[in-house]
Amino acid sequence: MQDNASRPLALVTGASSGIGADLARELARHGHDVVLAARRAPELDALATELRTLGAKATVITKDLSVPGSAREFAAQIETSGMHLDVLVNNAGFGDVGPFANEDPDRIDAMIQLNVAQLTALTRAILPGMVTRRRGRIMLVSSTAAFQPGPNMATYCATKAYVLSLGEAIARELRGTGVTVTTLCPGATHTGFAAESGAAALPLFSSSLVPKMTSAEVARAGYQAMMKGKPVLVTGIINKLVAFSGPVFPRFIVFPVAKLLLGGDTP
Ligand SMILES: NC(=O)c1ccc[n+]([C@@H]2O[C@H](COP(=O)([O-])OP(=O)(O)OC[C@H]3O[C@@H](n4cnc5c(N)ncnc54)[C@H](OP(=O)(O)O)[C@@H]3O)[C@@H](O)[C@H]2O)c1
Repeated sequence: MQDNASRPLALVTGASSGIGADLARELARHGHDVVLAARRAPELDALATELRTLGAKATVITKDLSVPGSAREFAAQIETSGMHLDVLVNNAGFGDVGPFANEDPDRIDAMIQLNVAQLTALTRAILPGMVTRRRGRIMLVSSTAAFQPGPNMATYCATKAYVLSLGEAIARELRGTGVTVTTLCPGATHTGFAAESGAAALPLFSSSLVPKMTSAEVARAGYQAMMKGKPVLVTGIINKLVAFSGPVFPRFIVFPVAKLLLGGDTP
């Protein structure tokens, strides 16, 4: 067991399940104390108990990060409690399936708040302290959805394109500061995401022809990339091919492939 006074401190949003929970496990296993944030307290408490057995100090903060202003409030809460973050993992997020014209406007608002606005605000609030201390690792969780528009998941794909653009730009700005930003782009991953986003029946998740990773595999690769200060990581070989062909292939190829994976009635 390590000396708690010298352990780096990591905050993980969306730590109550899936990729976030496994990133928190990865961080604890590698000697970090952790602050676990999400809405579901029982899941966060259970994970905190598990991580304490690894020698980590684990603090639970329940927070709905789809509420405007929540990230600033959260950052202020962290500062008031005297915690100095060495690692910030912006992982909380959800998706939505269906034609844009039929999407629930409230769900669109909440998705943009969580995936975009509060992710941006939390990063902006935590970053200056890291720069002053000349030490810090930030992860933004995007997706392979970031690399091309996604009819039938239009808003979600657009939020993830924003995250990738933001992450790459900040990573560049921060060169030489001692602080790095890694944008993690998983493809289809076995988590609660598909059910929560109404995406479970899409070929992307239901077809055995589409390879899926486990959240533990994604977290392991993501943790390593973040610690190396790698600006972008697309997890998995097939996902890399899909991601890097998205921006270079013409749309008459990209859209039919997107339709095969995301379904929908788009001609
Ligand atoms: N699974 C995939 O195929 C896949 C692929 C690419 C990218 N991603 C991205 O990976 C990230 C993690 O998703 P996952 O796959 O691990 O799915 P997940 O198991 O559903 O986890 C989502 C996490 O986000 C949290 N969350 C949702 N709404 C929130 C809110 N309003 N406030 C605070 N926390 C909230 C959830 O916690 P509570 O419900 O307790 O609040 C949960 O901990 C997301 O950003 C997702 O877009 C997933």
